[in-house]
Amino acid sequence: MAAHRTRFALAAALLAATAFPAMFARAAPALDYEFFKLRVQPIFLQKREGHTRCYVCHAESNNAFRLERLSPGASTWNEEQSRRNFEMASILVNPGDPATSRLLQQPLAPEVGGNVFHSGGRQFGSKDDPNWKILVDWVNGEKP
Ligand code: HEC
Repeated sequence: MAAHRTRFALAAALLAATAFPAMFARAAPALDYEFFKLRVQPIFLQKREGHTRCYVCHAESNNAFRLERLSPGASTWNEEQSRRNFEMASILVNPGDPATSRLLQQPLAPEVGGNVFHSGGRQFGSKDDPNWKILVDWVNGEKP
């Protein structure tokens, strides 16, 4: 009887390990909305030397990184638009794992680990770029 229970527990644990590997990994941090609004969003509007701003190509773009269009005359997104940007960007990252987060890899130079192809260029030439580090902090659950 006891042996049967042990076998059952073992089988259940094995099943869980196969079905939910994330359960056995480090708990993923929660993405913080305020940090996103205050620190991450401005990066998408900034001009980087030799590059076009993310916003220029990604406002209502037809790929997965689709930013809200700013209201006429506005220099940043309002609350509702920021929430939508947050939802959109959240899907492009794996909380706690910058190295597999598409939002971070796509604009990063391939020689330092970024994705090979991005029409928007290698906006971040190094992982020491202060703005790239802000994206990392967000993915790691940092709060403002
Ligand atoms: C010159 C236009 C342009 C600029 C500027 C640009 N991108 Fe892109 N980006 C694209 C295009 C086009 C694609 C889809 C095809 C590709 O990857 O090139 C894309 C794809 C992406 C993707 C993947 C979306 C998907 O469908 O999986 C991400 C993430 C991304 N860009 C982030 C950024 C970030 C962050 C910036 C600014 C730091 C930026 N891009 C700047 C044109 C641009």
